[in-house]
Amino acid sequence: MQRPPRLHLFVCANRRDDSPLGPGCGERGDALYDALKAEVAARGEHTTTWVTKTHCLGLCPKRGATVARYPGSEPILSDVEVADVTALLGPTSDGGAPPGWEEIDRELLAVEELQSTKVLDLARRLKPGLTLEDVQNPHDFPELDDSDWHYADGILTGMKSVSSAMRALRLRRKD
Ligand code: FES
Repeated sequence: MQRPPRLHLFVCANRRDDSPLGPGCGERGDALYDALKAEVAARGEHTTTWVTKTHCLGLCPKRGATVARYPGSEPILSDVEVADVTALLGPTSDGGAPPGWEEIDRELLAVEELQSTKVLDLARRLKPGLTLEDVQNPHDFPELDDSDWHYADGILTGMKSVSSAMRALRLRRKD
């Protein structure tokens, strides 16, 4: 059985032609729906936050679109605009704002540098005087044929792979 979402938003994108009630949320609702879906995907919360497009919710606004929210103390919100997306979704599931690419990159670089220092320190215990360039060619140094050193170096390689994958993803998202 599928679990209910943490949050379910119903976004009006109703269109009316030549109606005394106005044109409806229409394109503004479509833009809001798209922005919400994109933000939910960026947060990786598509299984816990659902966004559904609807017809008229009965509070046709002059600007933005109308959104029904479940659960919530205010179940119907009017005049909702794309700029309100973050506030509408609330904190991320871990309680904070979603990290940006720069922040992720900085974190990855920091842990990579830490691990790199660890690898070099370990290598220098096995053969004093080794440089960072030396440890990139471990086969030139039989002293580095050590399981602890290989383990630490393997972790560093894994970290570098994650960094590369994240940078490639960032580039793809830019396209
Ligand atoms: S058209 Fe959107 S609430 Fe009525």
